[in-house]
Amino acid sequence: MRYGYFDDSSREYVITRPDTPLPWINYLGCEDYFGLISNTAGGYSFYKDARLRRLTRYRYNNAPLDMGGRYLYLYDNASGKYWSPSWMPTRVKLDEYECRHGQGYTIITSKLNGIKFSARYFVPLGESLEIWQVTLTNENTSPADLSLFSSIEFCLWDANDDATNFQRNYSIAQVEIVDEVIYHKSEYRERRDHFAYFACSEKLAGFDTAREDFLGPYRGWDAPLAVEEGKSRNSEALGWQPMGSHHVKVQLKAGEQKQVIFLLGYQENPKDDKFDPPGSQVINKKTDKPIIAKYLKPENADKAFNTLREYWTMLLDKVQVTTPDEHTNRMVNIWNAYQCMVTFNMSRSASYFESGIGRGMGFRDSTQDLLGFVHMIPERARERILDISATQLKNGGAFHQYQPLTKRGNNDVGSGFNDDPLWLVLAVSAYLRESGDWSILDEQVQYENEAGTESPLYEHLQRALQYTLDRLGPNNLPLIGRADWNDCLNLNCFSDTPGQSFQTTTSKDGTVAESVFIAGLFVLACEEMAGIAEHCSDQAEVDRVQKSAAEMEKTVWAAGWDGEWFRRAYDDYGHALGSKENVEGQIFIEPQGICVMAGLGAENGNAVKALDSVAEHLATPHGIVLHQPGFTKYYLHLGEISSYPAGYKENAGVFCHNNPWIMIAETVVRRGDKAFDYYTRTNPSAREGISEVHKCEPYVYAQMIAGKDAVKPGEAKNSWLTGAAAWNYVAITQHILGIRPAFEGLEVKPVFSSRWDGFEVTRNFRGVRYEISVKREGPENNVSLEVDGKSVPGTVIPLPAANTKTVKVKVVVR
Ligand code: GLC
Ligand code: GLC
Repeated sequence: MRYGYFDDSSREYVITRPDTPLPWINYLGCEDYFGLISNTAGGYSFYKDARLRRLTRYRYNNAPLDMGGRYLYLYDNASGKYWSPSWMPTRVKLDEYECRHGQGYTIITSKLNGIKFSARYFVPLGESLEIWQVTLTNENTSPADLSLFSSIEFCLWDANDDATNFQRNYSIAQVEIVDEVIYHKSEYRERRDHFAYFACSEKLAGFDTAREDFLGPYRGWDAPLAVEEGKSRNSEALGWQPMGSHHVKVQLKAGEQKQVIFLLGYQENPKDDKFDPPGSQVINKKTDKPIIAKYLKPENADKAFNTLREYWTMLLDKVQVTTPDEHTNRMVNIWNAYQCMVTFNMSRSASYFESGIGRGMGFRDSTQDLLGFVHMIPERARERILDISATQLKNGGAFHQYQPLTKRGNNDVGSGFNDDPLWLVLAVSAYLRESGDWSILDEQVQYENEAGTESPLYEHLQRALQYTLDRLGPNNLPLIGRADWNDCLNLNCFSDTPGQSFQTTTSKDGTVAESVFIAGLFVLACEEMAGIAEHCSDQAEVDRVQKSAAEMEKTVWAAGWDGEWFRRAYDDYGHALGSKENVEGQIFIEPQGICVMAGLGAENGNAVKALDSVAEHLATPHGIVLHQPGFTKYYLHLGEISSYPAGYKENAGVFCHNNPWIMIAETVVRRGDKAFDYYTRTNPSAREGISEVHKCEPYVYAQMIAGKDAVKPGEAKNSWLTGAAAWNYVAITQHILGIRPAFEGLEVKPVFSSRWDGFEVTRNFRGVRYEISVKREGPENNVSLEVDGKSVPGTVIPLPAANTKTVKVKVVVR
C-alpha cells in the first residue's frame, strides 16, 4: 500500500494522505540552521547543535504522535469553526491534502470548505532562519472572513535541561514583543548572546507568548482556547512556557489570494553590544532587523527559494544515472544523494528516532558518512576530516563521539571502540580519490585538540593503523575493545546491572576478546594506505602496510575462517563466535562483507563460499539479517546484542548499513545479478508498495528493518540518520554501476545485472564532466573502454589534459 508517490521530475515525494504509518519527515537547512519537519508540520529547529542551541520544543515518544511543530490554525470568523491546514494537531478532516518533500524544503497544501491553503517551509542558503510562506486562496463564490494563527513553542536552548530542570525553567523565560516580531530572549540577560525571533509580514490582530494563556487550562495544541474563541490573549511570558503566536485577520473576496510570511530565526549579537540602548535590558535589534525586513518580502523569499533549488540541481547534477530501473535512478539521482547530505550534517544527532540530546557526532559514523558525501562538496568534506582527526588520540585511537558545537571529543563516552580509527583511513582515501587534493596530508593536525601535539595528517593515518597492531590478542587478531562496528557486541562488558551503559561499561581488561571484522577492515585500510603512500613515493610505508596486511590475512585464515564462512569474533573465554560451534549466532554478516571487500578469499574460492553462506543463512526478502540464529536470551559475555528480542536491531535485524558490504563483495566476485538483487531488497523506493509493512519513509533508508525472527518482519525503524545512506550510495554508484574515483583517474568497472543491456552516467570528477555510456554485449562483466574515441587499456580513465571540460566514455561489457 502507498501513501503517496514519487514526482521525479520535481525531485519530490508527494504524500497524499496525512495519516502515514509514522510521521514522514524532511530536513530544512543544510549549513548551520536546521529544522525537522513532518508531513503534518510537526518538528523542531535548532542552530548547529540539536542539544545546545534548540530553538523550539518537540515531544518525542508522545501520544498523539508527532507533537510540537510549526502549527498554523485557520479560524472562520463567521462560523467560529477552526482547523489545522496541515491536519495535525486538530485532525479535522480536510477536503484535500498534499505534502511535498523536496531537498531542503517542504510544501503542505490543503483545502477545506473552499479555502485553499499552502505553506512552503525552507531555510535560505547562508541564513540562520526559516521561512514559512503561506498562501490562502478563497475558492468560494462568497467572501471569506478568516483568522490565521501561527504557533511555536520555544525551547530554553539546552534541550536536555529544557526537558528536565523544571524548578529553574519555570522561572526563567523572557520575551520581547515589538510590532509584528516576537523575540525569545531567555538567559539573554546573563551569559547568552543569542536570541530567537518569530516575525510576521502582516499587521497583527493580536499575539501570544505564554502557552498557558494561548492554550487555556488543561488544553493541548489540538484545541487552543485562543483559537477556539478566535481571539489572542496578547500574553507576555515571564517564566513558565514561552511560545510565539501571531493572529492575522485575512479577508478574501471570492477568488482572492493572499500571501502571509512568517520567519523563525536565530541571531547572535556581539557580547559588548547586546543591548540597545546600552545599559538597558532591550535586545539590540540592529543585526536582525534588516534580515527580517528582507525575507518578509515575498519577492525575496521567492528568490531565496529559487536559489536553494538551483543549489540542489548543481549538487545532484554531479552524478546522474539513467538505468533500466526506476528505483535505482531516483535513489541515486535524488534521494540517496540527498540523504547523504543529511547524514553528513547530522551524523546520528537529530531525527525522529534520535532525540538530538543523546549523541554528538560519531567518529566511525561521520567518517563513513563522508564516503557518500565527498563528491558533492569536497571542501566541506576536507574541513570535516580535519575536525575529526583533531579529536584523534595520541595513541592513534579515537574519541567515539565529539560535539559539533565545540568540535571536541566527548569524555563521557570516551574511546576504546577499536574499529574507530581505521575508518579515518577510508575517509581520507575517499577524499583523495575524489579531489586529488594531496595537500591535505601535509596539514598539521592536533591530537585530542591539544595545542603543541600537531603532526601531518599523513601521520594520523599511520597511527590509526598502528593502533590495531598495538592491540592484538591471543590469536593475533585485533582486540575488539568496547565494540567494533557492531556497537552491541560488547565482549568486555559483562554487565549484570540494570541501566548500565553497554557501551561504556568495561569489566574485563580486554586482552582476550578479538574481532575478525576489525581484521578485515584493517586489511582494507592497509590497501588504501598503500595506495596513498605509493602516490607520496613513500616506498617504506607501502612495504610496511602491505606486509602488515599480508600477516593479518594469514591470521584470518588461521583463526578467522570457519570452513564455510568467516567467523565473527573470539569472546573473553577465547571461544569463537560466528562459528558452527555456536548454538546461536553461528554466522554473521559483517566479516563476510568486509573480508571479501578487502579481497580475502578472491583467489582461493573462499569469498564465493562465504557469500553463498550469506545467501543460504542470512538473506531474506527484506534484506540480509545481521546473524543467525538470533539470540533468544541474554548472554552476559556478549552484551547488548543479546538484549534485544531476536529480529530487532543488532540482534538479527536487517541493518541497511552493512547490506551494501555484501553487495560490494558480490561485485568483487563479479556476480552482478546477486549484487543488484540485494540492492533492490532494501532500496526504499522499491519497498514503497509495502509502506504499510515498512512504515518508514519510502524515500530514505532506515537503520534497521525487522528480521525474520521478528513479529513483523520487514518493519523499518530509525529512518534518516544511518550509515546506510553512504554505503548504499557507494555500493550502487561505485561498485555495481562501477564508476569509482581512483587516485590517478576515474575508474569504470561495472558489475551489473546481466538483464540490463546498459546504462548511462554523467559524473563530475575533478572539474571535468564525464559522459559515460555502458553497453552490454555479453553476460560477464569484462570491460573495454573507449575514451574520446580512443581505446584505453584497463579500467581507469587517465586524467585528461588541463582545461578539458568534457570526456566521452564508451564502455562495452562482455
Ligand atoms: C548505530 C551506530 C553505529 C554502529 C551501528 C551498529 O547505527 O551509530 O556507529 O556502527 O549502530 O551497531
Ligand atoms: C544502541 C544501538 C546502537 C547504537 C548504540 C550507540 O546500542 O542499538 O545501534 O549504535 O546504542 O548509541
